[in-house]
Amino acid sequence: MTKDTTEIEIHLLLEALYRKYGYDFRQYSEAHIRRRLMNRLALCGLQTISEMQSRVLHDREFAAVLLQDLSITVTEMFRDAEFYRAIRQSVVPILKTYSFVKIWHAGCSTGQEAYSMAILLQEEGLYERTTMYATDFNQRALDQAREGIYANEQMKEYTANYQRSGGREAFSDYYTSNYNMAIMEASLKKNIVWAHHNLVTDSVFAEVHMIMCRNVLIYFNSDLQSKVQHLFRDSLTHGGILCLGSKESLRFSGLAEEYIELDKVQKIFKKKYPGGE
Ligand SMILES: C[S@@+](CC[C@H](N)C(=O)[O-])C[C@H]1O[C@@H](n2cnc3c(N)ncnc32)[C@H](O)[C@@H]1O
Repeated sequence: MTKDTTEIEIHLLLEALYRKYGYDFRQYSEAHIRRRLMNRLALCGLQTISEMQSRVLHDREFAAVLLQDLSITVTEMFRDAEFYRAIRQSVVPILKTYSFVKIWHAGCSTGQEAYSMAILLQEEGLYERTTMYATDFNQRALDQAREGIYANEQMKEYTANYQRSGGREAFSDYYTSNYNMAIMEASLKKNIVWAHHNLVTDSVFAEVHMIMCRNVLIYFNSDLQSKVQHLFRDSLTHGGILCLGSKESLRFSGLAEEYIELDKVQKIFKKKYPGGE
């Protein structure tokens, strides 16, 4: 089978990025990578991906730009409000049976997902006994997540999401407005540990009762999705909860039998105990 020239160039560029900087995009979805690289090609005025490869190898700052391009950090608070409603209904009663709770947000981006969960857990009386590990491989996104400062203009949309998700308070209680910025309340941050973790190249992060990895696997090819799903299976306690994004599944992992589907639409799964439910 012959490959088109661009496909060969992309392959070589990803190899260069990996060998020189350790960031491994070789098993990301081809369509996603090609779209992002072509976009950058048009922006930087180079003619071919091979020219970009040379630049990546000799210009660390250009490599950093490419890293941002390939890591899509789009996120929002209470993204998919129905998902958070389902968490309140089906998952919170399970978490309430534990004396302490560990939750891993894998691919947390700029932190909105973790703050949403911190708010929900506070309202459910669970936050004090919870440790949240929020990880990403994008250091710039993690730095913003740790700060917890967002543009005020986003708060209108986040408030609407929060209300639709079953939120019980005034959303404005959870942040302080300062000029055009919204600063998340310190009480939401105190049990969140922000950390660098690469799902492709790093191993099990911690043993946890719940993993949220939403809208991340969608950028991986099926082999990589399967590899990461095995990492999640090995990180979860028996009875632990796995939450995926609306377009993601356990399909390529061969692990579906090891989980019970708690909510088919919202992609919430519970890892079975040995030999049964
Ligand atoms: C679209 S955002 C999803 C954020 C959030 N989970 C949500 O659903 O709103 C995808 C995140 O996955 C992160 N990501 C992509 N590949 C990763 C990897 N190999 N290891 C860790 N994080 C990764 C990106 O940096 C980005 O922050």
